[in-house]
Amino acid sequence: MNALIKLEMIKNEFEQELAECRDSGRVEEIRVKYLGRKGELTLVLRSLSELTPEEKKEAGKLANVYKNEFTEKIHNIKTKMEETSDEAEQGIDITLPGIKPALGTRHPLTQTLSRINEIFISLGFSIAEGPEIDSEFYNFEALNIPLDHPSRDAFDTFYVDDEYLLRSHTSNVQIHLMQGQAPPVQAIMPGRVYRPDAVDATHSFMFHQVEGLMVDKDVNFSDLKGVLSIFCRSMFGDDIKMRLRPHFFPFTEPSAEVDISCIMCKGKGCRVCSGNGWLEILGAGMVNPKVFKSVGYDTEKYTGFAFGMGVERIAMLVHGIDDIRLFYENDIRFLNQFK
Ligand code: PHE
Repeated sequence: MNALIKLEMIKNEFEQELAECRDSGRVEEIRVKYLGRKGELTLVLRSLSELTPEEKKEAGKLANVYKNEFTEKIHNIKTKMEETSDEAEQGIDITLPGIKPALGTRHPLTQTLSRINEIFISLGFSIAEGPEIDSEFYNFEALNIPLDHPSRDAFDTFYVDDEYLLRSHTSNVQIHLMQGQAPPVQAIMPGRVYRPDAVDATHSFMFHQVEGLMVDKDVNFSDLKGVLSIFCRSMFGDDIKMRLRPHFFPFTEPSAEVDISCIMCKGKGCRVCSGNGWLEILGAGMVNPKVFKSVGYDTEKYTGFAFGMGVERIAMLVHGIDDIRLFYENDIRFLNQFK
């Protein structure tokens, strides 16, 4: 083949390869392929002696021009690649899709609590918080819980010292809230509570409650029932039934335990509701006037209702979870199910 044509072909090929080249490793390969000891251009230069003097003059000149040109181009592209990013220098393909960081999910208890908050906020309640370490006064006395009540026994409450304890319910926040403001009051109070219970599938030494309190002129039992039935239907579905069973709490009078029709069997009776068709979900009642007295509210002027529910219990019912311990173990196989 004519040496000049061959040189033209080498030049075209060289330029195309260089244009497609993305990393410095490849540049070096190209350099060796064309300019190396057995490189294509080197071989042409070496074989010039086989040509006629006329051809040799012309092809020799061109080959040397190309040799310089190739060397310069290789040099330029190498410096450019070094100057650009580290990625390019290291031969990393920056066009590859990135590694996605594993995204966490909100804890099922947080999700349940958010839903509870949302429902009560839509009914005009605000959200209040209070201390987890509190005095006997706030956890018991102000709530009309007498000294001989079993919950005040050292075995039934975590005492920090003679006066302070880990609150055993969120009802202490009712007292803080009412001490801090005159009626009307309309708030829910979520938070952690503590009881020295042996841990099993339904008990934990720490769990979460949401307290509710509404105080104003003319707040009556039907208001309580209305608020709770809206809550139950929003939380568990429109076809849910609710019933109030007479009960006793020192801080409410009258008091009730609130049941919903079993969300698993729709009231027919199953393992979850122990065959009776109902599930207890919260305690409630009209605020005992003795509680109002302890915070200085006028018992002639104001009435109110209060309720308290366990967040774990509600989350377990909503999601069909049968062991409370799952909430606290941080097992990703469990948590991943609540996207
Ligand atoms: N504090 C009660 C409990 O922990 C629940 C409750 C709150 C009941 C408010 C009535 C009114 O069981």
